[in-house]
Amino acid sequence: MRKPLIAGNWKMHKMLAEARTLVTGVLDKLDESADVDVLMCPPVQLLFPMAKAVANTKIMLGAQNVHEEASGAYTGEVSVAMLKDTGCSHVLVGHSERRHVFGETGDRLAKKVRAVVQGGLTAVYCIGETLEDREAGRTTAVIDQQIDEVLASDVSADQLIVAYEPVWAIGTGKTASPEQAQEVHAHIRARLASVYDAATAEKLRILYGGSVKPGNATSLMAQPDIDGALVGGACLVAEDFTAIISAALTAV
Ligand code: 13P
Repeated sequence: MRKPLIAGNWKMHKMLAEARTLVTGVLDKLDESADVDVLMCPPVQLLFPMAKAVANTKIMLGAQNVHEEASGAYTGEVSVAMLKDTGCSHVLVGHSERRHVFGETGDRLAKKVRAVVQGGLTAVYCIGETLEDREAGRTTAVIDQQIDEVLASDVSADQLIVAYEPVWAIGTGKTASPEQAQEVHAHIRARLASVYDAATAEKLRILYGGSVKPGNATSLMAQPDIDGALVGGACLVAEDFTAIISAALTAV
């Protein structure tokens, strides 16, 4: 049985005072003993203070991006060791905004995933098709390519989570239907079985992301291959994020 994970990607939102209010609001409503993992990925300047804010709670901390090199002349970038130093345990890699706005390629993402895993953190590797891909019937081909160019047996499955985020559902209010999402998640799991093996693929968590809200979270997470959510907009509001965490518990 895979333990559900609810992850919040804050993107480029929240100042320090707002972040403290959000975390306090989530912690107020969070059942520490509930059988669900919770991850928050604030912008990088908030990692140190948020690590303090979530210390001794079940909330884990993740970064939204990382550079693949250990150190050097890379102005504006942050390494895995630096993230680890803040108290991070997870890093999002290959978010669609990194791919489509910042031009990150599979080659680059393969290096990033390896840097994260070799550095002792867990990579949340994000994949997903554009609307154009979906309408052209290329969804599974795109997913396969995104998996094959980055994941291989040298990437420890114990330090890997996959997030399926159809690009057309991100920030648009359009969610994949539970059936649409389940179909792709099942495909992803089968592909992961060919990268690793069936038993490993069964253990890997695959999150769904793209306009997850309190109102649609339960039906999405009730699907057999959806093991949690990667939440954008709704994670910025404590009541919404905690409602999604509760949905993960009722959906099983
Ligand atoms: P929204 O939930 O705002 O659609 O964002 C999803 C996302 O990109 C999470 O990484």
